[in-house]
Amino acid sequence: MDSQKHLFILSCLSLLLVLLSGQMEMQVEATRHLNHPSKKLFVFGDSYVDTGNSIKTIFDSWKVPYGITFPGKPVGRFSDGRVLTDFLAKYLGLKSPITHNLWNTNTVPKHDLKYGMNFAYGGTGVFEISSTGPNVTTQINSLIKLIQENVYTPSDITKSIAYVSVAGNDYNYYLKTGGAFLGFPSFPSFIESVIEQTTTNLIHLQSLGFERIVVGALQPLGCLPQATAETSFQSCNSTFNDLVALHNNLLNQSVTKLNQETNDHTTFTILDIFDSFKSVLNHPSSHNIKERLKPCCVGVSSEYKCGSVDYKNLNKVKKYLVCENPESTFFWDQLHPTQAGWNAVYNELEKKDLYQVLY
Ligand SMILES: *[C@@H]1O[C@H](CO)[C@@H](O)[C@H](O)[C@H]1NC(C)=O
Ligand SMILES: *[C@@H]1O[C@H](CO)[C@@H](O)[C@H](O)[C@H]1NC(C)=O
Ligand SMILES: *[C@@H]1O[C@H](CO)[C@@H](O)[C@H](O)[C@H]1NC(C)=O
Repeated sequence: MDSQKHLFILSCLSLLLVLLSGQMEMQVEATRHLNHPSKKLFVFGDSYVDTGNSIKTIFDSWKVPYGITFPGKPVGRFSDGRVLTDFLAKYLGLKSPITHNLWNTNTVPKHDLKYGMNFAYGGTGVFEISSTGPNVTTQINSLIKLIQENVYTPSDITKSIAYVSVAGNDYNYYLKTGGAFLGFPSFPSFIESVIEQTTTNLIHLQSLGFERIVVGALQPLGCLPQATAETSFQSCNSTFNDLVALHNNLLNQSVTKLNQETNDHTTFTILDIFDSFKSVLNHPSSHNIKERLKPCCVGVSSEYKCGSVDYKNLNKVKKYLVCENPESTFFWDQLHPTQAGWNAVYNELEKKDLYQVLY
């Protein structure tokens, strides 16, 4: 009996120690990066960075089981928990910036503006492809309006970072609509125009005075569950990934040129999401990822998806399944990583050149 009691107390103590050291690590991390107290993070783009802008009544991100890991309920993040924005903010020693929609409700104190603002909407791209959210151009115009209203001053902007996520909705739309919708006969010619429009958006942000403008490389779309379902989540589609490589090469060329045309030559950087996704997917076990390509949350059949509910007979019937271990699964749904997936990607980014990219 007695020895069992001892064992119990011992394990409680060691648990406490583990928790405490975890917290200390996070504090160290935060202070390490807190050398720029007035730096803010402004975020533009799509669901890879949206933390709650998308419309509640339409998007799955506001339905159970989204958010089950963090914060424990759906809050508009397209994952079971934290997304890329949260990890970038953490690295910068900031809280995740408030969403533009929340600011528009007039219910948040001005104090909450100090970490920046998130303008990103799930489902959007650089073109007008979504009827439910503003494209990147319109998102940037929302920031310009706030500057005109003195919500943010020009000097707030010059000390800040802009992050732009263009994670492939333009391409999904292109494929879904059969391609020729804008008069682009081939996928490569459409990729060129996506890069051109992204470049226009980056120049627009530069004209607002941002010290640092970071654009995400495109992740390997051919490895997303929507592309690997055909092979029962066994292998990435390399044809699709070759097209992604073209996007990323053109983006690199364009950003290199922008820097050459800029006085300090370092305003624009690329966050290499492609490489970090690939590293994690090639060596999942070094990140404690056991399920590599199969998503955690799926519809019970092809007509349903993660978050689907059937309202027949006035009963809510769940039409999705959630895996037992989201913490060891890379993908959450058809398109998005789990919090564990993002954490692994973040760790890869940090191993390489996150500091140079963000500072
Ligand atoms: C972005 O959206 C606005 C408003 O809907 C639209 O006028 C504009 O043409 C779009 N931009 C691009 C590049 O498609
Ligand atoms: C791979 O992706 C390409 C481009 O989207 C598509 O045309 C092709 O059918 C896909 N192949 C497989 C095996 O899914
Ligand atoms: C473009 O790619 C080259 C070669 O991989 C790399 O050294 C360079 O840093 C990249 N440029 C940007 C802006 O990321």
